[in-house]
Amino acid sequence: MDDLAAEVVRRCRELAAISEEPGRLTRPFATPAMARANALAGRWMAEAGMAVRVDGAGNLLGHLPGSDPDAGTLLLGSHLDTVRDAGAFDGPLGVLAAVAAVARLRAEDVGLRFAVDVLGFSDEEGLRFGTAYLGSRAVAGTLDPTVLDLVDAGGVTVRDAFAAFGGDPRFAARAGERLLGYCELHIEQGPVLEERDAPVGVVTAIAGATRAEVTFTGRAGHAGTVPMALRRDAACAIAEFVLAVEATGRAEPGLVATVGRLEARPGAPNVVPGAATASLDVRHPDDAVRVAALERIRGAAAEIAAARGVEVSWEERLSTPAVAMDRGLSELLAGAVAELGLPHVRLPSGAGHDAVALAGLTPVAMLFVRCAGGVSHHPDESVEVADVAVALRVLDRFLRAVAGGRQRRH
Ligand code: GLV
Ligand code: MN
Ligand code: MN
Repeated sequence: MDDLAAEVVRRCRELAAISEEPGRLTRPFATPAMARANALAGRWMAEAGMAVRVDGAGNLLGHLPGSDPDAGTLLLGSHLDTVRDAGAFDGPLGVLAAVAAVARLRAEDVGLRFAVDVLGFSDEEGLRFGTAYLGSRAVAGTLDPTVLDLVDAGGVTVRDAFAAFGGDPRFAARAGERLLGYCELHIEQGPVLEERDAPVGVVTAIAGATRAEVTFTGRAGHAGTVPMALRRDAACAIAEFVLAVEATGRAEPGLVATVGRLEARPGAPNVVPGAATASLDVRHPDDAVRVAALERIRGAAAEIAAARGVEVSWEERLSTPAVAMDRGLSELLAGAVAELGLPHVRLPSGAGHDAVALAGLTPVAMLFVRCAGGVSHHPDESVEVADVAVALRVLDRFLRAVAGGRQRRH
């Protein structure tokens, strides 16, 4: 298993060289870099014996048939898109670990009755459209048609991005199929496993999240001539807004509230900004707390706007409730962890995952792998080969447990 784990880590690093930006890893949804990543990961899937295709939503899909066509399909995987200036493991580790798990089954000549599909989802991070889960929601059949009208920074709609990537998301939907569940392996992206001295942990639930674009509109003017008292400066409004978001997040245990992107327009040193937009990301494990926090932030934005004589508008880009993992699948993961004599750690996820979207389709479970310093969404993201080897062992046992001892040698 150690060689297989070393290869998984090597492959994650190889994929990390495929980027839209020179010198750093940025691989948004439906871009040429994503097409190249799909081609490379697809080659590895084919080498592992899977039939490979890209579905209507740009998700990479490797299919390993089972011996009984009526036994259904188990879904494995994670995502192949990234944030800006990303690390190598957020997403690809789960895809390539699943490929390795399939390769191992074949190497050991283990035939499963059910089919296994390994998915490399196309849009978990939502970097391009400020949303998330475009690929996995298409698979779940829950992609709201209004999402198709959202535009990226260049004015391209989600609909046109899908079409240009050769797809139509309606053809990615898997509703109506006999699915056995979805299991996602992912780096923890936090410090808990390191603190607990555990290589892996079983996820209990994923926090709910809301993303929005908040725009203040004032009046642009000459930086040298418009007196300070007469300005309606949208950048000043948004500066106050950022601090209101931080204060709201700090006021509630477990709440996190972030402005990750700011833009002032027209964007010249000698022009008073007439408009400014902030991205907003708010999360909490308890949906009621998140919704109340959003109300407070909306109220603060309205007060800031009124005091400064500017307008404020909101565009919600994503809202997902907290999602509990399936008890049965999680027990199979925990059982595999226990059989290997590993520490028993159960933990919630503050980060979002494709499992959130897949939960609308089939039972979901997740296994976290320890990552150095809990660092993620940063190029320093890293994992130990030994921990990946442990995770592969857990995944291997999990697959055999799902088979319920009914897998046979052919
Ligand atoms: C994905 O990484 C997210 O939680 O935003
Ligand atoms: Mn991820
Ligand atoms: Mn991420």
